[in-house]
Amino acid sequence: MCGIVGYIGYEDVKEILLGGLERLEYRGYDSSGIGILNDQGQVSVFKDLGRVSQLRTIVDYEEKASIGIGHTRWSTHGEPSKNNAHPHQSKNGRFTIVHNGVIENEDILRENYFASFKFISETDSEIIVELINYFYELYNDVELAIRHLMNHLNGSYALGIIDSQQPDKLYVVKNKSPLLIGLGEGFNMIGSDAMAMITKTNKFYELNDQEYAILTRDSISIFEITGAKVTRDYFITNLDKDQVNKGTYPHYMLKEIDEQAVVIRRIIDKYSDKRHERFIMDQNIIDAIKDSDRIYIIAAGTSYNAGLVGKQLFEKIANKPVDVCVASEFVYNQPVLSQKPLFIFISQSGETADSRAVLVNVNKLGYPSLAVTNVENSTLYREATYNLLLHAGPEIAVASTKAYTAQIAVLAICAYLTVDVKEFDLIHELSLAANVIESICDQKEILKELASCFLRDTRNCFYIGRHVDYAVAMEASLKLKEISYIQTEGFAAGELKHGTIALIEKDTPVIAIISQEEINLNTRSNVKEVKTRGANTLVISLKSISSESDGFVIDDVHKLLTPLVTVVPTQILAYYAALERGLDIDKPRNLAKSVTVE
Ligand code: M6R
Repeated sequence: MCGIVGYIGYEDVKEILLGGLERLEYRGYDSSGIGILNDQGQVSVFKDLGRVSQLRTIVDYEEKASIGIGHTRWSTHGEPSKNNAHPHQSKNGRFTIVHNGVIENEDILRENYFASFKFISETDSEIIVELINYFYELYNDVELAIRHLMNHLNGSYALGIIDSQQPDKLYVVKNKSPLLIGLGEGFNMIGSDAMAMITKTNKFYELNDQEYAILTRDSISIFEITGAKVTRDYFITNLDKDQVNKGTYPHYMLKEIDEQAVVIRRIIDKYSDKRHERFIMDQNIIDAIKDSDRIYIIAAGTSYNAGLVGKQLFEKIANKPVDVCVASEFVYNQPVLSQKPLFIFISQSGETADSRAVLVNVNKLGYPSLAVTNVENSTLYREATYNLLLHAGPEIAVASTKAYTAQIAVLAICAYLTVDVKEFDLIHELSLAANVIESICDQKEILKELASCFLRDTRNCFYIGRHVDYAVAMEASLKLKEISYIQTEGFAAGELKHGTIALIEKDTPVIAIISQEEINLNTRSNVKEVKTRGANTLVISLKSISSESDGFVIDDVHKLLTPLVTVVPTQILAYYAALERGLDIDKPRNLAKSVTVE
């Protein structure tokens, strides 16, 4: 979703902003813009629809300036257009802002303060900049104006603000939407995440909700909404700036699919003793899982699908009951909870607003929580009682791949560590799974051909499976639909004949996943049922239960870990289906990597 970057220092701000926006592109956006303030107090704004590469072509700025803000916009209020793109300026030109978030009381603010005012854009953000100006004119003090602004806004907002009369200050405000401050030598920065600033610094301050900060070239001062000064230590991220490029790969998604074996091995390494003989984890986390009478997994999208597999792992390995809940549903429709619940939040980004909204409630209710996330110091990581990292390395492609397999591996370790008598050696089994993932990735040519044969011209496609294969079918279909735009669903194979089979017509692709012996024959008869009705069927199976006609056969892994391997061919199929269609694989239409609004 929207990305923010801002800089105050001595270097050429234009290039720093454009470079920062390029590193935020992965979050998803439809337009972008920058605002630059020179030493004479003149602000130049450049913005346009489309990619940052398009913005580059219109930024015609040769002056020396070293303070500015930039933005990638994912539309919520008002269509994607140049006019609605950020930055937005107060009509008198004094204040310029970039905004990420949604202002919930925009109608009331319009009515109360700007009843006859003619706004230029359709955005809620323009109200913010006019309100700053309004309060400034009332109190003649920018800081006071910002505090009044914060007191009047309901909703989520991360703001970068420049005041044309103060070329030595960059203001930043945060509530609910993510925002970090980057600490440099002779410069300071702001960004929606560390990625935007990683080529300049690896030292960051977090801003909490309802806080604002004033940055100069040499200082960072953080304040509460009351104006009280906050003292806080910075943290250092181990994000490696070299990990944030795609090397020789044509797309991040392909690179990230290939990285999955390495990620599983890294997880084994990070969560085990030096000799890789036994897993180790914070005992408080293990106790929290053991003490709970039911786990509630809260997540969205791919992370939700990983949660479905996590349920199987906790129930089968640790005999612990689990509910898996879509975050955006749970937040407004909370089920009756057990006596001693533990909430596990699964999120690649650690920033998903729907999940965070649930965590805020859970914290209010005083229940323990565990965030399983890929981003250290992300909001969920910070705000949950406990946290575990996925160690997957930055995931840039909007379509999540390595985070999904990492989530499953980490949840497996959690479940495994809560039982005293181990029935299998998880370190060994995960290592085997990593090897199998590698061998699947070596067979891309076969999968490319299968994608061409089954998915090139189709309008729709169904994934089917039973048991844990059903969970993988859900993820497989999400991957396919989000990057190839093929209409696809994952179904419980046994449910087909209760309605869905009516959709099967000649040549409809139906891809079945079969990894468990006990459902092998049943799923195969469902495959026959659709084949008889004209479907073009493809079976992805495990070797020990495969049949000669299966389209893609995978070496065996432990029966509880099959999702780690069965998902991989489906990711590769989705990749090649999108490639055949000439689509923007890493940045599919309408989607954002980090979904920071509810
Ligand atoms: O960062 P999160 O894991 O919380 O994100 C949740 C979903 O937005 C995300 O998994 C989304 O579904 C992906 N685009 C799927 O590939």
